[in-house]
Amino acid sequence: MRGIILAGGHGSRLYPLTKIFNKSLLPIYDKPMIYYPLQTLKQIGITEICIVSGKEHCGQIMNQLGSGEEYEVDITYRVQEKPGGIAQALSLCESFAGDEPITVCLGDNIFEDDFGNNSWQIFTTEWIDEFFDKEPKSHIFIKKVPDPERFGVPVFQGMDRHLIKIEEKPEKPMSDYAVTGLYMFNHEVWSIIDTLKPSERGELEVVDLINWYIDRGKTTYSELKGFWSDAGTPDSLVQANKLVSEKEKK
Ligand code: G1P
Repeated sequence: MRGIILAGGHGSRLYPLTKIFNKSLLPIYDKPMIYYPLQTLKQIGITEICIVSGKEHCGQIMNQLGSGEEYEVDITYRVQEKPGGIAQALSLCESFAGDEPITVCLGDNIFEDDFGNNSWQIFTTEWIDEFFDKEPKSHIFIKKVPDPERFGVPVFQGMDRHLIKIEEKPEKPMSDYAVTGLYMFNHEVWSIIDTLKPSERGELEVVDLINWYIDRGKTTYSELKGFWSDAGTPDSLVQANKLVSEKEKK
């Protein structure tokens, strides 16, 4: 299993904080934001990690994290020439991952499960081997939120909450869950990205990628118990800082 952190994009919702700095280097309490997705991947047991960022910011991230030696991981970098969506950024990592399954974490996603409540412990090497050996072939992580319209929202059917699709930032969300920015895919992911068409905003969307798997009955999901926040807007950045500082002080 290989890990990928996507830290591209303009960070336009945080402008002017992101005029000079990449969003993923903004502070979350006492650490730069990107330390948290790095920690999440480490908690899952992943040490081979590729970071994708725009050419304006890749140098800053390299200065911050270097080879990864300090954090006991091995970091590879890929440069995204211009923002083209999460799935497009992901496509740059094909040669890095080869035939291995991948776990992708968005650079602005903060998971409490990093703080020792052991939610990631089910993702042992054995679990991963078995999971990717059989159907289904992708796994997502959802979290109940008060404002699902800001996120990818899972649509369920029936009492057993069978996942039928994900809707990206719907005006009328069909559930009160968000799809968090943590995804697992098997090696089929690369050929599926090649078939995606740009959305109305001209990007290759991660939601279209997940829906490809869902349509073929190849996606399972876990519900996260600990707090989760993205930190891509001023309010969510403040919220993530607050949650992490409270947790760290406990
Ligand atoms: C992205 C995804 C969305 C997901 C969110 C999680 O949105 O498109 O489906 O729920 O990350 O942080 P973005 O933050 O890029 O708008």
